[in-house]
Amino acid sequence: KTKLQFIHDLPKVELHMHLEGSLEPELMFEIAKRNNVPIPFDSPEDIRKASVFNSLQEFLDLYYLGHKVFRTRRDFYDLIYAYFKRVSTSNLRHAELFFEAQEHTNRGVHLEEIVMGLHEGCVQAEKDFGITSDLILCLLRHFSPENMMDLLKQAVEFKKYIKGIGMSSSEAGCPPSLYVDIFKFAKEQGWHVTSHAGEIGPPEYVRDSIELLGIERCDHGIGARTDPEVVKLLADKKVGVTMCPISNVLLKVTDSIPYSPIRQYLDANCKICFNSDDPSYFGSNYIEENYDAVEKEMGLSVAEWVKIAQDAIDMSWVEEDERKKLQ
Ligand code: ADE
Ligand code: ZN
Repeated sequence: KTKLQFIHDLPKVELHMHLEGSLEPELMFEIAKRNNVPIPFDSPEDIRKASVFNSLQEFLDLYYLGHKVFRTRRDFYDLIYAYFKRVSTSNLRHAELFFEAQEHTNRGVHLEEIVMGLHEGCVQAEKDFGITSDLILCLLRHFSPENMMDLLKQAVEFKKYIKGIGMSSSEAGCPPSLYVDIFKFAKEQGWHVTSHAGEIGPPEYVRDSIELLGIERCDHGIGARTDPEVVKLLADKKVGVTMCPISNVLLKVTDSIPYSPIRQYLDANCKICFNSDDPSYFGSNYIEENYDAVEKEMGLSVAEWVKIAQDAIDMSWVEEDERKKLQ
């Protein structure tokens, strides 16, 4: 069996994927058309051509423009179902998926339409593809903490459909200390919590996300690499890092996959796993393509691949008695 075949066969768990980042250009066009939402592109090919970025912010500007096409429960259903269909041949067993409700609710879309459309997609995908999933409400740093808290309070009504709370968008000018009350509230509600930290932010943002916000996972987390104390904190506290190798390269956050701290984190005994982040904006590179890219550029050992696949299961929020089925 070749190494890539072995990697293909590994049971996979995805923990860092933004549903709006899996909106392929064809579906963006289709949804924009049926909702009569104007978009500044003439064709799906146009969007692909525009998906070349020199920074995280350049990406985010295009990405949030794409959010504007969503209006109805069906739009969200179509989005999530397309993701599951696309990854159904990659031995994906389970996914915990971010949705960015604020971008939609702040335009007047009801939270219920978003959550129920996505939830119905999860139910159907489990039937059709055998992939289990949970939803993570991902708060957005470009809106105020007050706006985040308003949404969280609304989300309590849909608690049973939402497994945890995350936080993304640019860390620039948005240190973790601003969000202590938000994460405290989320934890009081019984939600799991994770956050983007150390994508473009410094090691202190990773440390403060652990110590002030109590994150259970660290999304990206590569910013810790210049401070061995913070890398050790990740390992000691068993805060797993959901790395996104292709995203980091295409957003010019790392020079190349080997230059990301994958090797450093493995050697420091951190829990890590590989994820796709925003696959449709990054050349339609989904989870398996991320695994393959790491293997092609770094050649990890079979034992390391087995550990990484197991780390992803360990880092998931699947209840203890249901974990066996992921092996
Ligand atoms: N939202 C979607 N992808 C993101 C990323 N890579 N960083 C921050 N926010 C995001
Ligand atoms: Zn992300």
